[in-house]
Order: sequence, then C-alpha cells, then structure tokens
Amino acid sequence: MSTITEGFLDHRIFNIVSTAAEKTGVRAFVIGGYVRDCFLGRPCKDIDIVVEGSGIELARAVGETVKSNVSVFKNFGTAMLKYHGMEVEFVGARKESYRRDSRKPIVEDGTLEDDQLRRDFTINAMAFSLQKEDFGALVDPFGGIRDLAAGIIRTPLDPDTTYSDDPLRMIRAIRFATKLTSGERVFRIVPESLESIKRNRDRLSILSKERITEELNKILVCEKPSIGFRLLDDTGLLEYILPQLTKLKGVETVEGKGHKENFSHTLEVVDNVAEYEMAAIAAGSLNNYEYEDGTEVIKPRTGPYLWLRWAALLHDIGKPATKRYSPQAGWTFHGHEVVGARMVPKLFQQMKLPLNEKMKYVQKLVGLHLRPIALVTEEVTDSAVRRLLFDAGNDIDDLMLLCNADITSKNPRKVERLKRNFELVKGKLANVEAKDAIRNFKNPITGEYIMKTYGIPPCREIGIIKEYVKNAILDGVIENRFEDADRLMREKAAELGFNEK
Ligand code: CTP
Repeated sequence: MSTITEGFLDHRIFNIVSTAAEKTGVRAFVIGGYVRDCFLGRPCKDIDIVVEGSGIELARAVGETVKSNVSVFKNFGTAMLKYHGMEVEFVGARKESYRRDSRKPIVEDGTLEDDQLRRDFTINAMAFSLQKEDFGALVDPFGGIRDLAAGIIRTPLDPDTTYSDDPLRMIRAIRFATKLTSGERVFRIVPESLESIKRNRDRLSILSKERITEELNKILVCEKPSIGFRLLDDTGLLEYILPQLTKLKGVETVEGKGHKENFSHTLEVVDNVAEYEMAAIAAGSLNNYEYEDGTEVIKPRTGPYLWLRWAALLHDIGKPATKRYSPQAGWTFHGHEVVGARMVPKLFQQMKLPLNEKMKYVQKLVGLHLRPIALVTEEVTDSAVRRLLFDAGNDIDDLMLLCNADITSKNPRKVERLKRNFELVKGKLANVEAKDAIRNFKNPITGEYIMKTYGIPPCREIGIIKEYVKNAILDGVIENRFEDADRLMREKAAELGFNEK
C-alpha cells in the first residue's frame, strides 16, 4: 500500500493539473527534484509533471484553464508554462535507450515505471500521484526515501548503464553530493557508483563543454564547493574538465624544504570565500555593480556571485608556471598573480565561459589578489591604499573578501597575526574612502581640456600630463579637486614646452 503524503501538493496548480488529467483521460505525476526537495524541506520553484500520454496536450489543457501561455518544445516532446512564479514542465512518460556514441536517445512512449527507471538517481526518481483516487500517493520503486534519509546518491539501474546513457550524470552525482550536503546533513555517492564514474570518465568526451561548465558553475555556488572539486579530482573527471587546476596538486621538497600544497589551499580559499560571502550578504554589506544601457546600477547582492567563486578557484592558477627554488629564498612563486591573470581569457574560452566584463572581473581579481595582503606586511601608507582603491574600483569589497579568504596556514598564530593586520588595512581603506572619492576616480583633467588649453592635437604628451596629475592625487601630493589639478597640469605642460593658447 502506498503512503499518501500530506501538505506537499497544497498549491492550486496540482489540483488544476489533476482535473485536467482526469478530463483528458491520462495519468499524471509530479516527479524529480520537486518531490526530493519537499522531503528535504528545501524550496523548489520548478515542477516536473510526467504524463502517461502526451505531455504537450495536458500542458495545453492546463494552460487554457489558468489562462497562461504554453511554450512547446516539439523536438523534446515537452511543454512549459508559468504559474504564480512557478515553472511547470510537462513531459510524456518515456522509455529510453541510448547508443554508445551519442547522447541522443531512442525514445518510445512508456509508463511511469519505465520513466522512473531511466532517471538519474533514486532520490530523483520519486513521484507523487495526481490521480483523484490516490492524490499525493508517493511512488518510490527504488527506495528514494530511504536513500534521502541515509544521504545516499545511487542510480536506479546498474551505474554503468545510467552513466553511459547520459555521462553528464557523473558530474550531476557530484553536484548533488555537494549541494545537498549542508550542516549536519551529509550526502555520499555509493562506492559502486564512484567506481563506475572512474571507469566511465572518458565518456565525458561526448558532452558539450557548455553543459559541463553549467554543472561546474552549480558546484561553485554551493555552500562548500570543495566537496565537489575533491570528488571531481578523486574520480579523474577534473583532469579532463580543468587540467590547469590539477597541476596545483602535490608538494615538491628540496633540501628538506617543501611548499604549500596549492590544490588544497585553493579549495580552502574557495570554501572561505563561500562562507564569508554569505555572511556579508546576510549583513547587507555587498553590492553588485551592473551596467544597464550604459549607466551603472548598484543592487544589493542577494545570492552567491558566481564570478567571485571563479576568481577564488583561479587565484593561484599561475603558481605551477612560476615555481622556483633557491637555497636563499626557498620556494617562490614570483609574479604568479600576473601569469595567472594572463591565463584567465584562454581558460574562459576553453570552458565556454563569457568573454565579457565577467571575465575581466575574474582577471582583475586574480591579478590584484596579493595587493591587500602586501599592505598587511608593509607599512600601510595612505598613498598605497589610494592606489589599491583606484586599481580595484567597485570590486574592492570582493577583492578584500578574496584576500581575507586567502589567509590560510597550518600555523594558527600566523593566521591570527595576518588577520589582525588585515583588519587594520580594512580600517585604513574605510578612512581613505571616506576622505577621498578614489573608488570611482575620474581624473579632473581630461585630454579634451588639455588640448583646448594649449590648442594642440591628440599627442603622447597629453597622456604624460594626465598620468602626472593622477599620480600626484593618488600619492596625496595634491587634493582630488579641479583647482589643484589644473595648477599641476600647467606646471607640467610648461616643463614639456607648451604655451597657453
Ligand atoms: N534527470 C535525469 N538525468 C539528467 C537530468 C535530469 O534523470 N541528466 C531527471 C531527474 O529525475 C531530475 C529531473 O530530470 O530530478 C529534473 O532535472 P533537473 O531540473 O536538471 O534537476 P532537479 O532534480 O530538478 O534539481 P535542480 O533543480 O537542483 O537542478
């Protein structure tokens, strides 16, 4: 006898679908992520409905009742409509089999049971009945509820079959292990599934880079992304997906001296960034800066910023190429931030990530990630802080967060000392910012103004004068205001032999 669940299908949409299915003479079920998330107490706005019959026809019937547009994807046999902020997707129950050389399945109509068998994990194969006679009954043929309670990710069929049917599921398994693990609740992939992933890793080659990257992005915005990256590494998938990251692994020892294990360090930094970012969001102290029609729009950050996570993942990517050992200095990675920043565009291209301002943001953070910490160890002058603010612009808060997250060491006393100094730099930054508007620094002297004053065409000297004025402001020689800047411009121009018009 099946259990009738209470409370999970209270939303009006489920009754509407139920009535429409009865009228159309088909059986319909809620399936997949929505059912899983109900039992986990997680909010879920996407509802998947599986129909023993035509998903498109049922969607159209529901669309008519709720007066909503239905988007039909004929090629996939699916249809989608939006209802009160929820996305409801309809699909006909299918029996699928796959050829070895392609992700394109051979599809036939099937029953609910056929459909559940072809799903990825037992926890994603559970369904709620929408039939009037057993509305809310849980249909769980593979023990999804048991696996949810035990925190287990397991395939309904032999894992070799499930993974070779759709190799993306290997990364999905890792994504779910990362995403569903939270606080005390731990999710693990069963050992035979992990073994199967290792065996089938070459099957990733039939997937598009975009789909792989989409999964990677979802891992990055989790509470503890390191869980996913460790699993990707242990199963050999990371070597295929992002080999630059696996090059950070290992410790070399010369004359008894070893260096930091940069892979573990990187993962620790990504987790720290995730933790600090969520705390800052809760405190309302982070913003997103976007451009809409050329104007800057500042919005309070409400969720993880994917690109900050990418910056954390790639912050030390230049280390393997810059690693040196000398008996005097020991291990050094001089210039790794510059080399790392240079590697970002190619890596984004390889991952099919956008080559726009998001890429530039990651590149900037990788390139600047040592600057605040350098201030921690040096004497902090106003001018050094002003220069940092000028170079980071609006991304200063994210840069400071990354830099704080980058303070890791096995020596707790060292961490404590660095964190204390880091707070001093932060305080200084706040002071300088309150005094001088450097964050969005605009040179009071424009090229236009110089050309007009001296009646000269565009030339190299204009750049020299502007740079001179900018440096004087950043170094605190003059105040950031027009009169002082104008005076300095005239001095420099006279030195370069220009006479006023
Ligand atoms: N599914 C599958 N194999 C895939 C992708 C999806 O079997 N490669 C099935 C699973 O039953 C899954 C459902 O389709 O639950 C919906 O997929 P998706 O929306 O990608 O995942 P959700 O489980 O809804 O989880 P989330 O929204 O967190 O991604």
